[in-house]
Amino acid sequence: MGEYKNVILECDAPAAIIRINRPKALNALNPETIQEVSNALDEILEKEEIRGVIITGAGEKAFIAGADISRMPDMTPQEAEKFTEEGQKLTLKIEEYPLPVIAAVNGYALGGGTELALACDFIYASPNAVFGQPEVNLGIIPGFGGTQRLTRVVGPNMAMEIILTGRHIKAKEALRIGLANRIVEGDLIGEAKKTIEEISQRGPLAVMYAKNAVRRGKELPIEAGLELERSLFGLVFASEDRVEGVKAFLEKRKPEFKGK
Ligand code: CAA
Repeated sequence: MGEYKNVILECDAPAAIIRINRPKALNALNPETIQEVSNALDEILEKEEIRGVIITGAGEKAFIAGADISRMPDMTPQEAEKFTEEGQKLTLKIEEYPLPVIAAVNGYALGGGTELALACDFIYASPNAVFGQPEVNLGIIPGFGGTQRLTRVVGPNMAMEIILTGRHIKAKEALRIGLANRIVEGDLIGEAKKTIEEISQRGPLAVMYAKNAVRRGKELPIEAGLELERSLFGLVFASEDRVEGVKAFLEKRKPEFKGK
């Protein structure tokens, strides 16, 4: 496996776990860490046995406490734009990633932390998870997609309140507003692994196309979204897995998918 300084990559097939590992800065994202998460995602794709990714924070206290504020005092507007572009690119990479990505939010997920979690396919939270977009406290605004993705996930009025006040959202509220899918008491990573194991029993191409249809479809008007669904439905019918899946059902046995 590649050399990483700011992340720990662990492969436990069918899941891969990326742990952001800068505990002294509560796992804040600096440019090097952003690059390493991106590299880890590339490396995981080379391992055929991996069928899903979990992103979490090292230590007990934080998922990611945001973008690294210690770099900000000297940043010029041009550098700030460049930094945000790198962070946004990573969020897009996660969204467009061919495998499912679960955010296991194990503590503070503020600013860039909430934003990275929002780019994942869904979020499981520990009871001590804290979300929020506190950028206005610093006199800045969210820059890794928060103004766009939070709005799409929790609705414009709730996103507006969260972003304009900068207040903390605890796990129970995150669950209530649909930001987190589950609060996991106990083994958060274990629960995320179970979900990836469950998904790994399904047709790999079907999982990939379904993610693609949901992700891209929510940005489209309904007619275009249905057209996208139609074309991916046709494409998946061209797969060997479709032949096997349908046949196995009719023969009352478990399918043996090949990802072809
Ligand atoms: N960047 C750099 N360092 C950070 C950090 C961040 N985002 N968040 C915490 N740290 C550092 C602290 O400076 C501190 O370092 P020292 O021990 O060297 O002083 C260490 O982590 C521990 O933090 P605290 O002492 O503050 O811990 P706490 O328990 O008292 O508070 C906290 C925890 C509420 C998460 C608090 O640290 C905090 O509010 N952090 C900042 C959160 C924030 O504003 N995030 C948004 C960043 S901007 C952004 O993300 C922009 C964007 O959209 C791209």
